[in-house]
Amino acid sequence: MTPGGPVVRPRRLRRTAALRELVAETTLAPRQLVLPVFVREGATEPVPIGSMPGVVQHSRDSLRRAAAEAAELGLGGLMLFGIPETKDAVGSGGCAPDGILNVAIADVAAEVGDALPVMADLCLDEFTDHGHCGVLAPDGSVDNDATLAVYADMAVAQAAAGVDVVGPSGMMDGQVAAIRSALDAAGHQDVAILAYSTKYASAFYGPFREAVDSSLKGDRRTYQQDGRNRIEGVREALLDVEQGADLVMVKPALAYLDVLREVRDAVDVPVAAYNISGEYSMVEAAAERGWIDREAAILETLTSIRRAGADVVLTYWAAEAAGLLRR
Ligand code: PBG
Repeated sequence: MTPGGPVVRPRRLRRTAALRELVAETTLAPRQLVLPVFVREGATEPVPIGSMPGVVQHSRDSLRRAAAEAAELGLGGLMLFGIPETKDAVGSGGCAPDGILNVAIADVAAEVGDALPVMADLCLDEFTDHGHCGVLAPDGSVDNDATLAVYADMAVAQAAAGVDVVGPSGMMDGQVAAIRSALDAAGHQDVAILAYSTKYASAFYGPFREAVDSSLKGDRRTYQQDGRNRIEGVREALLDVEQGADLVMVKPALAYLDVLREVRDAVDVPVAAYNISGEYSMVEAAAERGWIDREAAILETLTSIRRAGADVVLTYWAAEAAGLLRR
């Protein structure tokens, strides 16, 4: 021993890979990962998304194959987003039984049955010609209460199509209560709600807007949260639990890991975090340039989100990460 050397040596437990496994505090498993997927009305084959290398807008057929693969990999679920051929002011395509998202839910449910939780984004932004998450009042503002009625209809349409979990992401006040009561009134007591509770207005959604052919001009700052607010983030999650959310979400993940931890400590339901498009694309772009080790960066990213407190991680790498974790 070096005379006068340290007695306490944390390095002892880092000496071999097996010792490191013994004391690892955080797990990362395929069952904790949910894969967000895009399905495009009228597509006959997958359409690549330029700003998200490796992610596509699926055709109905390729979506079914992706769902079967996800079930095979033991993922925690799929989160479906629909891209309609036509949009209108009230987002009718979101509620129509033959709207792309609803038919995709039915397709996937038929493909995987109960083997894989089928989740769907419950929001109007993909379906409105103005690109906002709700319907507009005459003065152009997003009309909270009028939007709740549309979300209620959309929830019932998704439930009728066979969804297991609806994911309201529009940040309207009272959306979880409105959706819960509409689902219950229609006999869908067993459809769960994964509430995008703590959702910040973020520059990191950029690539997603291309992924869904968003028509948005401007921003969502009158309904999504201000990134400076931590206490409010916890409050939004508590409000959604009170209204009946079965799971709550923090989004984005990486720039909000502190909020994620606080939400995890504050609620008694499972907490999800969404590793969003911009967070994905930054890693992909840096890896493409040879600046980082891609696979290691993916696993480190997902592990950090789990460590911060996410029980469930939504990530575009879900299928690939499941493969990496099996090795
Ligand atoms: C809204 C919604 C958004 C995302 C998921 N649901 C975009 C937004 O709020 O502008 C973003 C997901 C991502 O960036 O990966 N329906």
